Amino acid sequence: NSIKVQAPGTVANLVCGFDVLGLCLHEPYDIMEVQLLDEPVIKIQSADGYPLPTDPQRNTAGAPLVEMVKELDNSVGFEVIIHKHIKPGSGIGSSAASAAGAVVAANMLLENKFSKEDLVRFAMFGEKVASGVKHADNIAPCIYGGITLIRSIFPLDIVTIPAPDLYVTVVHPQIEVKTADARQILRKEVLLKDAIKQWGNIAGLVAGFMKNDLDLIGRSLEDVIIEPVRSILIPGFDEVKRKSKEAGALGGGISGSGPSIFMLSKEKSTAQAVAQLMNEIYDRIGLDRHTYVTKIN
Ligand code: HSE
Repeated sequence: NSIKVQAPGTVANLVCGFDVLGLCLHEPYDIMEVQLLDEPVIKIQSADGYPLPTDPQRNTAGAPLVEMVKELDNSVGFEVIIHKHIKPGSGIGSSAASAAGAVVAANMLLENKFSKEDLVRFAMFGEKVASGVKHADNIAPCIYGGITLIRSIFPLDIVTIPAPDLYVTVVHPQIEVKTADARQILRKEVLLKDAIKQWGNIAGLVAGFMKNDLDLIGRSLEDVIIEPVRSILIPGFDEVKRKSKEAGALGGGISGSGPSIFMLSKEKSTAQAVAQLMNEIYDRIGLDRHTYVTKIN
């Protein structure tokens, strides 16, 4: 009685939509193997020797299952084998993929007892383990697919947004940025003039997705609040962004809390050219990286 699911990476924030927008990628993905147990325990294993906490309360897949089991009056338990392919601290939703994959697989074993919204609610306990706070902008797209707007997390209000047929280029420079640290450095107050720009961009981006207006999407991929602070942690950020746009990308920015950078393109050939220039930039800087050309899933 076990099941295996692919839990894909996600791009949170989509530049202007800090904590409220995210999209699901085709790859990379974690593979989560979950087995139903008849006693209320959660067992965690790493498949390939990847060092992961095995205490369920401290594991991003374990904590959500602990909550799920509580809601099932401790009538069952789960064993989870994690095949970790999305590196923690990459900015492409590594913790969310494990959290979401675990609850989706567990729910399949329970014959879909819980709604998708319930699953997001459980999976957010994994984000709390990973970054200290609950946020759903990686989890919701991982569970729903496509592009999602998280209008609110208390109470949960998730809106799926039609996703245009776009290519996504992601570069993951091999440094680790912990989401908790990348949140710590943010200012707690925002100037009204910046807020006006930001909500104009968020509304423009959502309208652009819904109308399939690529120019509007490109114009709206601007972040005047978070990016100026966080981009300092990412070597080569400004150059990657500028050259990607010159090569024809619609726009992009920091993926989640970084250090990955994503760019959206209409054509596959543009997305590939963007990947190449990203590789050239990091070769020159002397930083290892992984580059993906993929699509919205
Ligand atoms: N919205 C979160 C942040 C996503 O930017 O901190 C983390 O992946």
